[in-house]
Amino acid sequence: MPPSEAELLAAAETAHEQAYVPYSSYPVGAALQAADGTVYTGCNVENANYSNSLHAEEAALGSAVSDGVRAFERLAVVSAAADGVTPCGMCRQTLAEFCGEDFVILCGSADGTERYTLGELLPETITKAHLDAAKEGQQ
Ligand code: THU
Ligand code: ZN
Repeated sequence: MPPSEAELLAAAETAHEQAYVPYSSYPVGAALQAADGTVYTGCNVENANYSNSLHAEEAALGSAVSDGVRAFERLAVVSAAADGVTPCGMCRQTLAEFCGEDFVILCGSADGTERYTLGELLPETITKAHLDAAKEGQQ
């Protein structure tokens, strides 16, 4: 059985409890629903070299891909602040490697759940298709 919206958000909530955030004190959790219904979670993992920090969405996606999974239905993301945090620009691009414009992103907030598509958050992005087409043109 695939998870309900509430279950996916609850998985992101649980994941954010493991966040390692000694620098920002801003815990984030993500729960990524695969096409087969399996849920992969991740939290942010910061580093003394700030730019080495992993974002929750990256951690969740890395876990799924490491498990051989590359097809996804939707994502839930929450922060401890329940402020409706959305994936940052980098994470939007990371998601676009595997997810199309209709991929749904649920963002938990104290006021309710915000719903977006990846196409709304990151229109006209570069994908593998652009690079493949360019290579084709070079031949
Ligand atoms: N963060 C995420 O984990 N995901 C996002 O897409 C937004 C930002 C983390 C990175 C950093 O550890 C903290 O939130 C503050 O930016
Ligand atoms: Zn991010």
